[in-house]
Amino acid sequence: MPQYSGKLAVLKSEEIPLATAQAFADQLAVPLYESVNKKTAEDFFLTWRDAELKLIDKELLKKGGLSVDIHPRNGEQRSWPAPKEGALAQAIGRKTKTIVDATTGWAQDSLHIFRMGYDLRCIERSPIMLALLEDAFKRLEQVDWMQRLNLSAPEILAGNAIDVLASLENAPECVYIDPMFPPKRKKSALPKKSMLILRDLLGDDLDSQSLFDTAFSVATKKVVVKCPDHAEPLGGKPTVSFGSKLLRYDVYLKG
Ligand SMILES: C[S@@+](CC[C@H](N)C(=O)[O-])C[C@H]1O[C@@H](n2cnc3c(N)ncnc32)[C@H](O)[C@@H]1O
Repeated sequence: MPQYSGKLAVLKSEEIPLATAQAFADQLAVPLYESVNKKTAEDFFLTWRDAELKLIDKELLKKGGLSVDIHPRNGEQRSWPAPKEGALAQAIGRKTKTIVDATTGWAQDSLHIFRMGYDLRCIERSPIMLALLEDAFKRLEQVDWMQRLNLSAPEILAGNAIDVLASLENAPECVYIDPMFPPKRKKSALPKKSMLILRDLLGDDLDSQSLFDTAFSVATKKVVVKCPDHAEPLGGKPTVSFGSKLLRYDVYLKG
């Protein structure tokens, strides 16, 4: 994975055996460091803190770092049918049950969809994000409410969603897409730190148009695209949109 060269390293941690850290660094084809400081060439580090895999940037070395947040928001619980309220719930709808999130990233939308009760599979192509997701979904399986309801975490499918979607045996009713759009103009909401870091590391998603085309041919009912206010609709005029001025969910119904 030469795309991370000079950008990312693995940082050894007391929490994990050295051999495990080394194997992880080898897998990502990045260096393993015992310690880092401001002069270290790389800007981002993967390490284990508080029993979580975390991504930290050099500016924030002393702070906690970012991991995939698996905690439910207020009032969220896994039950079916999904709630009627909320733009994302309205965009997916209650007559749709099976979803593939084609751009999982930090999984905040995925986990919201999962906690609303949908059957979810998650696609991600970035090896960094995949490592963070796998760590998070393992943690998710240990939490009380997951165990009480005897649930497994959503399946993670690694690879470019354009290929993964096209090779799925069971097509989902809905494909959900939230690609990285180019930077926004002044009035838009400021992206979260986690999204800024993702853009720094991974760049914009330049193939989102092809992703939309594949998603639309694979989904049996609909494609939902999350868009910032400034972005042109990915698939032309949507059938319907939900959301606010800063963010919308464009829904493309089939047939
Ligand atoms: C804006 S982030 C998604 C954020 C996510 N919705 C969340 O709630 O955290 C976009 C993510 O999609 C992934 N991605 C973009 N295009 C993809 C593709 N064609 N196949 C697989 N993953 C893709 C990127 O690697 C990135 O992690």
